Amino acid sequence: MTGGTRGIGRAIVEQLLELGARVLVVARTQPDVDNAITELGVAGVAADVTIAADRARIVAAARAHGPLHVLVHNAGTNVRSPLVGYDDATIERLIAINLTSPLLLSRDLHPLLRDAKDASVVHVGSVAGLTALPTGVAYAAAKAGLAQAARTLALEWARDGIRVNTVAPWYTRTPLVEPILADPARLAAILARTPLARIAEPREVAAAVAFLAMPAASYITGQCLAVDGGMSIQGLAPT
Ligand SMILES: NC(=O)c1ccc[n+]([C@@H]2O[C@H](COP(=O)([O-])OP(=O)(O)OC[C@H]3O[C@@H](n4cnc5c(N)ncnc54)[C@H](OP(=O)(O)O)[C@@H]3O)[C@@H](O)[C@H]2O)c1
Repeated sequence: MTGGTRGIGRAIVEQLLELGARVLVVARTQPDVDNAITELGVAGVAADVTIAADRARIVAAARAHGPLHVLVHNAGTNVRSPLVGYDDATIERLIAINLTSPLLLSRDLHPLLRDAKDASVVHVGSVAGLTALPTGVAYAAAKAGLAQAARTLALEWARDGIRVNTVAPWYTRTPLVEPILADPARLAAILARTPLARIAEPREVAAAVAFLAMPAASYITGQCLAVDGGMSIQGLAPT
């Protein structure tokens, strides 16, 4: 479980624990990982998913726990800017965390997923990868790539009993988007675009991830489930 110490990731960890899973939490900040270990009773690795040596430590820690039944790629971030405002490093960092790292980690964990015989990989994407939003092209393109990667891997790994799906949230109340939600004008614009007229709570995104991880979703693979209060199906808002 990458990015499991706060926000959506923390809610996913809590739901997986409620369902009886043993969870390995990955995030960069050691004290936050230590808190998760103490407060939730999980295992933890302080590691940056964009660094190869850190990914090797994640794989080693996962291997110590045996077959891997559920892999959730949730670590992600965004820097909002028009394309011409990005420097090279920022574009590369956004693609690395949101797209390249999940692919590399999935590849390296494939033997453990295959050994589980009935495994589920869940990508936490974004509606920014499904439709055009003024959110920054690097993030949007990476999240679109992540949803497509789920489709391609679902096909590739079906024979190994590994399902691969994406959950695509819209605005969800987490530290990542706190500054945006604190701006009354931006919040009003988001709510006007959301048929359910509210921001998602992290547990509502986590519920979709947990469902796709469970045997209840055993015939679902290669899909992208938007958890967006109806944002992506709205054609013309009622006036
Ligand atoms: N919140 C939203 O409105 C929203 C909407 C659509 C999609 N999403 C997606 O949902 C996911 C979770 O978002 P969130 O809002 O919960 O974010 P968040 O509150 O910023 O939490 C991000 C989590 O990922 C970890 N993380 C960040 N970079 C990492 C790295 N390089 N290596 C390992 N762990 C890393 C963070 O811990 P450390 O900082 O300690 O590493 C933290 O545990 C992201 O993929 C995001 O793109 C969020």
